[in-house]
Amino acid sequence: MMTEKRRLRTTVPTHRMLEGGGFPVRRPTPMGSLTSPFLLLDEMGPIDWPPGGAIGAPAHPHRGFETVTYLLEGKIGHGDSVGNTGELGPGDVQWMTAGRGVIHSELPPEDFLESGGMMHGFQIWVNLPAADKMMEPRYQDIPASEIPHVKTDDGLVEARIIAGNCLGESAVIDTVIPITFLHLTLKPGGSITQQLESGINGMVYCFKGNLSIEGKPLHDGQLGILTDGDSIRLSVAEEAEIESEILLLAGPEIDEPIARYGPFVMNTEEEIHQAISDFNNGIFA
Ligand code: FE2
Repeated sequence: MMTEKRRLRTTVPTHRMLEGGGFPVRRPTPMGSLTSPFLLLDEMGPIDWPPGGAIGAPAHPHRGFETVTYLLEGKIGHGDSVGNTGELGPGDVQWMTAGRGVIHSELPPEDFLESGGMMHGFQIWVNLPAADKMMEPRYQDIPASEIPHVKTDDGLVEARIIAGNCLGESAVIDTVIPITFLHLTLKPGGSITQQLESGINGMVYCFKGNLSIEGKPLHDGQLGILTDGDSIRLSVAEEAEIESEILLLAGPEIDEPIARYGPFVMNTEEEIHQAISDFNNGIFA
């Protein structure tokens, strides 16, 4: 049995760019540096929109994977071709399995557009294995109040469990393949050891402060790709001036070819052409 702590294999910088209708994101680049099964990791904002200024993503399709939206501040309204509508607020999660196809919009609701305000969150794309790419679309809209929120005994580390397990608690979101998605806040002097079974891929995105993984630092705006092992220990120095916030993401390698064209992620070029033609022919849900 392996009893080895995971370490930082590589550290990937993020770059600020514009996405959708023109909202600012921090994105690790090159995108291929993410580990399977993750296809995209965007930190949306933080941005303080002026009244009338907030921008989102108007109607667009997805096929072949899952989009996960996790909001920290602000509001996003969503609507789709299946007839689902809703609003995400701080701490809410939408786990959308696009499967064979969804057309949706992600736009600021009218009241938020009018008032403006801080907007900060994440969008993550999780790939699906070939066998599940054409599954029925599925939505899980989970309000912040239902996302398990736990602390270490010393109170120095807080975990919000979006997918997977942490500190003896389990997520309420059901994922197609086993995914760990944790939002951890570590106060100065805090540390946590998280089990991550050997063989799966793992990465850590730091979006506030600094932390240390087996003696190596990870800074705000860096994505750390992890070595194999069966657990990871994250810690923040006692003398740190601010707390650190990270996303810990892990999942299995999907060892299949990837054909990617904008919002479609399939296995072959032919399947991409099929997706484009299905979309043009109005076959998406
Ligand atoms: Fe989308």
